[in-house]
Order: sequence, then structure tokens, then C-alpha cells
Amino acid sequence: MEAPARPLTYGRYLRVPELLNLQSCLSDAHDELQFIVVHQVFELWFKLALFELEAVREALDRDRPDLATRLLGRCTAVLRTATAAFDVLETMRPWDFLEFRSRLKPASGFQSRQFRELEFLSGLKDPRYLRSFGSDPEDSAVLRRRLEEPSVWDAFVGFLGRQGFAVDGEAPLLQALIGLVRDTGSALNQLCEALVEYDETLALWRYRHLLMVERVIGARPGTGVEDVQKALGQAGEYFTGVGYLRETLPKRCFPLLWEARTFVERE
Ligand code: HEM
Repeated sequence: MEAPARPLTYGRYLRVPELLNLQSCLSDAHDELQFIVVHQVFELWFKLALFELEAVREALDRDRPDLATRLLGRCTAVLRTATAAFDVLETMRPWDFLEFRSRLKPASGFQSRQFRELEFLSGLKDPRYLRSFGSDPEDSAVLRRRLEEPSVWDAFVGFLGRQGFAVDGEAPLLQALIGLVRDTGSALNQLCEALVEYDETLALWRYRHLLMVERVIGARPGTGVEDVQKALGQAGEYFTGVGYLRETLPKRCFPLLWEARTFVERE
């Protein structure tokens, strides 16, 4: 006779024992566990944001702007919630971090594949970043696919084209977007606002991360300084971690949507 199936439990459904077994500290430093947990939680949020962003792209491909707007709202909520976790890291003083920081080298958040995927999928495609993933064939393959596939921005522009807007070239596209930013109350206006809000939240992630980094390590080189130089520049150019991070602050996934706001007029 077959043994009766065990009823599902919270722990087995969520694989809690496995999850709680994934934190391997490299030192006895008190703060290392929070450092690992915060990073792992970020990666989980990135996973969800990527999943939802793919669904946004699909909703646009299927001409479903309302669904795209709703799911973009979820992506924004995920990024906003993740960004709040920098508060936890800031309870770690510079002195506390130095107790285990040297053990991490040359690992760095710069090597977060999922963060780069988020950028590429959103429309911020810079192939130079692939250079820092050369040693891992799986990461390289995933990122190369993300570079080649259409981004959320591409899907948005394709959707506008099918709605009859002129989207061939930046000038007509900008005109179309100015009209949409002005057309408050329409479903397409809400979609544009949801895109801008998502973009703003990603920018806020960058600002918040930079300030936290400056507070914890000041103007020291980052643990990933060699990768940053390999990917982006000559030796010495990005010597300090905050120097590099400051240069990323102006990045926008949907720059034309920001530009359109300059030209909106009330008749
Ligand atoms: C004490 C905590 C942290 C410090 C001191 C720190 C420091 C840095 C530094 C200096 C860089 C520039 C690259 C380098 O020189 O290594 C960087 C990049 C990065 N970090 Fe952090 N970081 C911290 C926490 C986090 C957390 C919690 C995340 C969440 C995933 C994260 C994600 C990233 C990402 C994605 C980049 C690349 C950003 C870009 O290229 O635009 N970091 N970090």
C-alpha cells in the first residue's frame, strides 16, 4: 500500500530549509551575515522584476496597454522595496565593514548579471559590460541574448507604431510622446507615466546605492575596480568606486519620455 502523501507545509512549499542554508560567511565578522542576506534579497527582487518586465514586454507586443501599465507598477514597487534595504546596510559602520571586506575581493555588485539584465531589458544596452562576464559562459550567453532581444522600450515603440503613431526616427517619435504626455486621462498617458515612474525608481536605486557606498567606503577603490576598468576604461580612470557610480547617475532607460516633458504646453 502506498504511503499517504504528506500534506504540503509552509517550509516545503517555499523551500525554506534550502533558502536558510545559502548564507556562507567567509569570516567571523558579526556584520557579514546581514551583508550576505541583503545582497541575496536584492537578487530575489531582481529576479521578480525581470520576470514582470518580460510580461510587460509581452503585454505591449499583444497591444494590451492596461496590463503593461499594471505590471510596470509592480516592477516599480519591487525596485522601491528593494532600495529600502540599503537602510539595513547603512547600520554597518565603515569600521565594521573593514573587518571582512578584504575577503570579498575581487567580487563586486558590478558582476550582478541580473542587474545588467534589468538594464538591457529596459533598453539600456551597453555591450562593453559583457567584458566583465567573460569568465562565465552562462552569464555571457544570457547577457548576449538580452542584448539581442527587443527591450521594453522597443516593444513600447512597436506598440505605438501599430496604434498609428509615426515612430520612424527620433523627431516624429518625440512629437508623438509630447502628445501623449499632454493627453492626461488616456490609457496611453498612464502607460507613459508608468514607464517614467519605473525609470525614476531605477535612477533612485542608483542614487541611494551611491550614497550608501560613499558612507561606508568613502573614496576607496571598489572591490570590483579591475572589472570596471576592464569593461569601461583605461587603468586609473575609474579608480574610486564612487567615481564610477557617479557617472552612472544620468542613465535613463527612456530618455525621450523625459525629453517630451520639456515641450508640453497648455493651449
Ligand atoms: C557595503 C555595501 C556595498 C558597497 C560598499 C558597494 C560598493 C560598490 C562599488 C564601489 C561599486 C562600483 C564597482 C566597484 O568598484 O566594485 C558597486 C557597484 C554595484 N553594486 Fe554595490 N556596494 C554595496 C552593496 C550593494 C548591494 C546590496 C547591491 C545589491 C544588489 C549592490 C549592487 C551593485 C551593482 C548592481 C553595481 C553595478 C552598478 C552599475 O554598474 O551601474 N551593491 N558597488
